[in-house]
Amino acid sequence: MPSIKVALLGFGTVGEGIYRILNERKEEIKRETGCVIEIVSILVRDKAKKRLATPGTKITDDIQEILSNQEIDFVFEAIVGEEPAYTYLSDAIEKGFHIVTANKTMFAKHGPALLKHAEFRGVQLGYEATTAGGVPIIRTVASLLPVDRVRRIRGVLNGTSNFILTKMREEGIPFKAALHKAQMLGYAEADPTDDISGKDAFRKLMILSALAFGSQPNWQDVPVGGIDRVTIEDVADASKSKLRYRHVADISVDEKGAVHGSVGPVLIGIDHPLYGIDGVNNAIIVETDYLGALTLAGPGAGMYPTASAMVGDFLQMIRKSEKVLVTI
Ligand SMILES: NC(=O)c1ccc[n+]([C@@H]2O[C@H](COP(=O)([O-])OP(=O)(O)OC[C@H]3O[C@@H](n4cnc5c(N)ncnc54)[C@H](OP(=O)(O)O)[C@@H]3O)[C@@H](O)[C@H]2O)c1
Repeated sequence: MPSIKVALLGFGTVGEGIYRILNERKEEIKRETGCVIEIVSILVRDKAKKRLATPGTKITDDIQEILSNQEIDFVFEAIVGEEPAYTYLSDAIEKGFHIVTANKTMFAKHGPALLKHAEFRGVQLGYEATTAGGVPIIRTVASLLPVDRVRRIRGVLNGTSNFILTKMREEGIPFKAALHKAQMLGYAEADPTDDISGKDAFRKLMILSALAFGSQPNWQDVPVGGIDRVTIEDVADASKSKLRYRHVADISVDEKGAVHGSVGPVLIGIDHPLYGIDGVNNAIIVETDYLGALTLAGPGAGMYPTASAMVGDFLQMIRKSEKVLVTI
């Protein structure tokens, strides 16, 4: 049976999830694609770290070992931050590898350039997992675009902020205690700055803007606020008026084609589609000319939701280019 050879960049929460799904679903993937998937290499920063055993797969800390391996067809990227991820992916595209990434920090800034580069080199680039984890928002918007026109996208794009706001309301606890709870449960990083300041939601919003409107607003022109400014008194007052705080990222295009965005806590009423979205979930409302409004909701992060979005991209890409990919 033909094989498809892949490399993973990063073997943390997401990288390990990809490894697990590709192994756990080996037979189904074989049936679906007619190919065996071989994970030939995994790139990490620290080779000495104790981690899940990966028999038959080379663990390396040298990207050149992967980039110089001409047998590799696909690279899954799940490392952290803008660099060296952007350089690694640019080099991988140049070598003709197809790419699937989860790296929102890198992709918000460099996604448009990477997509152009990938198109120029005739390779595919999947980035479903960069925005709202397991919620298939990229695929949905991409499939709407040829027939419809997206006017506005808004939603809860940061599960950590949503969890904290939910706990403040449900348990009457202040921001810091709710944040501590999120950290204890693994829903917030030891350094939660990007989540609670709104930066993380802003990056996802910029990825959606580039996809839906073909451009991003000037980053400096987008007001970005976090939930760290919401007090327990604010939440209690809102509840008395049957209102709830949600951290909402919002992007829209006006009649002249100018794109406007905002990110921050917003008070919403019981009839709003985001009213019932509690806990770590994400939810996104897409408004279009023909559809009206469509709401998608689900897990915005975590090992399996994120990795399954990446494997979903991968399988879709195999279907699109089976003939090009298969190496015997
Ligand atoms: N976790 C989620 O739920 C989630 C959801 C959506 C998107 N994402 C995105 O997915 C990416 C991965 O997230 P994660 O949670 O899996 O992170 P993580 O658990 O911290 O794992 C990061 C992995 O990347 C490796 N790495 C980091 N810098 C590297 C470098 N310079 N060279 C080689 N390897 C390097 C690390 O190596 P060592 O193991 O040796 O340290 C580790 O294996 C991030 O961009 C994140 O924003 C995550």
